[in-house]
Amino acid sequence: MTITIDEMAAFCKRKGFVYPNSEIYGGMAGFFDYGPLGVEVKNNLKAEWWKANVTQRDDVVGIDGSIIAHPKVWIASGHVGCFADMMLTCEKCKEKFRADHFIEDSLKIAADGMKAAEINRLVKDNALKCPKCSGQFQETQDFNLMFRTFVGPKTDDKSVAYLRPETAQLMFTNFRLVVDNARLKLPFGIAQIGRAFRNEISPRNFLFRCREFEQMEIEYFVHPDKTYDCPYVESVYGHRILVYSAEMQAKHAEAQEMSMKEALDKGIIKTSWHAYWLASAHRWFIGLGAKKENFRIRQHVATEKSHYALDTWDLEYNFPFGWKELQGIANRTDYDLKAHMEHSGQDLSIFDEETKQKVVPHVVCEPSLGVDRSFLVFMFDAYSTRKDEKGNEVVVLKIHPKLASHKAGVFPLVNKLEGKAKEVYESLRSDIPCFFDRSGSIGRRYARADEIGIPFCITIDFDTEKDGTVTIRDRDTAEQRRVKIDDLTNVLQGLVSCRIGFADL
Ligand code: GAP
Repeated sequence: MTITIDEMAAFCKRKGFVYPNSEIYGGMAGFFDYGPLGVEVKNNLKAEWWKANVTQRDDVVGIDGSIIAHPKVWIASGHVGCFADMMLTCEKCKEKFRADHFIEDSLKIAADGMKAAEINRLVKDNALKCPKCSGQFQETQDFNLMFRTFVGPKTDDKSVAYLRPETAQLMFTNFRLVVDNARLKLPFGIAQIGRAFRNEISPRNFLFRCREFEQMEIEYFVHPDKTYDCPYVESVYGHRILVYSAEMQAKHAEAQEMSMKEALDKGIIKTSWHAYWLASAHRWFIGLGAKKENFRIRQHVATEKSHYALDTWDLEYNFPFGWKELQGIANRTDYDLKAHMEHSGQDLSIFDEETKQKVVPHVVCEPSLGVDRSFLVFMFDAYSTRKDEKGNEVVVLKIHPKLASHKAGVFPLVNKLEGKAKEVYESLRSDIPCFFDRSGSIGRRYARADEIGIPFCITIDFDTEKDGTVTIRDRDTAEQRRVKIDDLTNVLQGLVSCRIGFADL
């Protein structure tokens, strides 16, 4: 079942997943607030990512850096100088448009990474005008995406600071401390989840392109001579995915499905590290219920690479508005550590015990994933409908139990059984996020739970009093089983963690 991004935004608002920010004041473009259900799903998503990428790994540790840092951090990283999008301004009404998006929408051609001269030529040759007032455009200008603020009571140039446009730089500025404290040995990663801010010229597509969002990032450091030696690569050799290399794009060829081994052997993916992190990211999504076929990996063409990147591959998702970046995995080399060494005057090299060399490690891969885009992916792949008994189409949000806001709804069949049902509910809730619902028919309560993605419903009925069992219903199949109240916590924990399946009950 495919719905548009606007339909998804409306669904998220109606059910309490995500609201447009400051709506009572007319809204604030590019900002969103997560509601009671959305905040739970988002927290679960971040917890799953942290577990898979930090807790369950020996080679990655986490940090939580602050949003505002010394402005020199962003000068050294290159963001003050070149973190910009091109902008078209209407001479008449002064409306502003993100130039590449405007070209894409107007001429239906890819414009990512297009140079200013080319954009100016296309505007002129195609007589493109302002869609608001039909005015002429000025020449394209660069627009820096960093949000500026002032630290302290003064508003002079010396007090200027920036809201971070990526979480990444804090892993570089804290590099020496983290390496020493966590006694890290190459290769290793430093991970972070946190907010990032970009003053997007034209935020659009709901959560896809916002001005405030969250990222889950890892800077993965390796010895500069070992950028091809990933010790984990064999674990992903057999993993298959749709691959769209820069060469395929240049030839206007179709993306091809292949294994990671094949992509490496054919030299399509250059480093084993890239193959490993791309496959790991894809597997993480699939493991949490996303649909394998909705993903592909695409290599950046030369014109679209960031100022710091040697080679970049994106994990892309087939959104209703086309294939778009979900996660960027750039090879940042030693660009950042060297830049911070130069600007701070501090030595950020480390001693590699294996080679007995002092080295400035390379970030061979920087898996950088948007929380909000991931949230959208899981919502789109979970969204489905079924016909109810009256023939009406109703939504079933088949979101993975690990991500679901609540793992179970607890219902008394009739109000008379509310006391016993409350008892069951109280016994569950210290271990399992669940909710209690007594209003409406039992069918109505199941439908409400299905729509917000509650994987299991527990009904307390007249047999409960007699034999101490309850009905447990599976959201995705509507099948029901009887389970002893004494076993309920264990059974639910098993189902949510996928240790057991519903068919095993
Ligand atoms: N540190 C590298 C970096 O920030 P990026 O490709 O600019 O790379 C990484 O961003 C990820 O952050 C993207 O793949 C996307 O998921 C998310 N992201 C970037 N800009 C965003 C925006 N305006 N709104 C929502 N998510 C965004």
